[in-house]
Amino acid sequence: MSDFDAVIPRRGTGSLKWDRRPDLDPFWVADMDFASPPAVVEALRERVAHGVFGYPVAHPALVEALVAYLAERHGAQVPADHLAHLGGLVPALSLAGRAFAQPGEAMLTATPVYPPFLGVHRDHNLQLLTTPHVQDGGRWTFDWEHLERTVTAETRIFLLCHPQNPLGRVFPKEEVVRVAEFCARHDLVLVSDEIHCDLVLDEEATPFVSALHLPAELLARTVVLMAPSKTYNIAGLGYSFAVIPDETLRRKFTQARGHILPEINCLAFHAAEAAYRHGEAWRQDLLAYLRGNRDLLTDFVRSRLPGVVVPDIEATYLAWLDFRPAGLEEPAAHFEKQAGLFLSDGRFFGSPGHARLNFGCPRAALQDALDRIAGSLAAD
Ligand SMILES: Cc1ncc(COP(=O)(O)O)c(C=O)c1O
Repeated sequence: MSDFDAVIPRRGTGSLKWDRRPDLDPFWVADMDFASPPAVVEALRERVAHGVFGYPVAHPALVEALVAYLAERHGAQVPADHLAHLGGLVPALSLAGRAFAQPGEAMLTATPVYPPFLGVHRDHNLQLLTTPHVQDGGRWTFDWEHLERTVTAETRIFLLCHPQNPLGRVFPKEEVVRVAEFCARHDLVLVSDEIHCDLVLDEEATPFVSALHLPAELLARTVVLMAPSKTYNIAGLGYSFAVIPDETLRRKFTQARGHILPEINCLAFHAAEAAYRHGEAWRQDLLAYLRGNRDLLTDFVRSRLPGVVVPDIEATYLAWLDFRPAGLEEPAAHFEKQAGLFLSDGRFFGSPGHARLNFGCPRAALQDALDRIAGSLAAD
């Protein structure tokens, strides 16, 4: 079993997370401080040992592994020709804008959300429309009436983040269907970013249902985006894939690539194959460890940090903390100065007064960060 308690020094390794602000301890960008599964490291070693790194192509064993993964883990039968490969998931969000909307038309999404959802519209001079996520009985959901009021005749795309980053929410199937029906009513393409779908912490209590399970007429207007990068901690290799069942949408999406996207890294293809083929036991160990961190964090915040609100975290290794009741309007800046911690600033997700804490780290580091947060709040 992997030792998730092991401290692997990352400072000075060219790590965005650790090297952007070497003066702070980092709990921001979504990568974990854990080594990737041994099978992934071994596959990379073998590919490197080959010694030739010419232009790559998605090799048949990778495509086979993706099709098997989609069938076995997500119960979706996907023909290989419905897949499109990309060097990252954010470029796929941008590509969707280029493929399915004209300059001046609009994308719609729900906030708070992973910041690139609020930025990719600029790549193609689109408008951005937003609707807030709201709580219903303590669970985050959509404001269905606000959605109807916000959508316009120029809106072409709905960007869905599911599981939701930063809320950690796994939407029930009915809500995904309701979003897709909304898209059908307004003739929108539904782009479902499911990068966190294998990080559902209690798979029995909150099962994840991919948009790949939408009824055929709704699936025909849907693009599903997935990647092994969050689950297996290989974001630095750059790889994602799209599943686009409708041929016309698929053609538009692949044509929109133009000449702006680089070739995909040949190592990434092999890491992805190994992760999906051999990573399941490691993933289960990871989920058990993350559940422990999630429980530690949730209990700590609820018992020791009065005035700080954390939702029930169903997926991801990200905690969305509301500091407004504690009177902190700029919590990320506060903890940077008062506790030496680098958290993600809620403003970039569309919600000032919040910060996102990445708990994909050894438990002792998480405990230390929580103690420093508590200390700095007590000192105020
Ligand atoms: C919802 C979501 N989409 C996409 C990404 C990043 O994807 P990539 O690194 O493949 O561009 C992240 C990373 O945190 C994410 O949370």
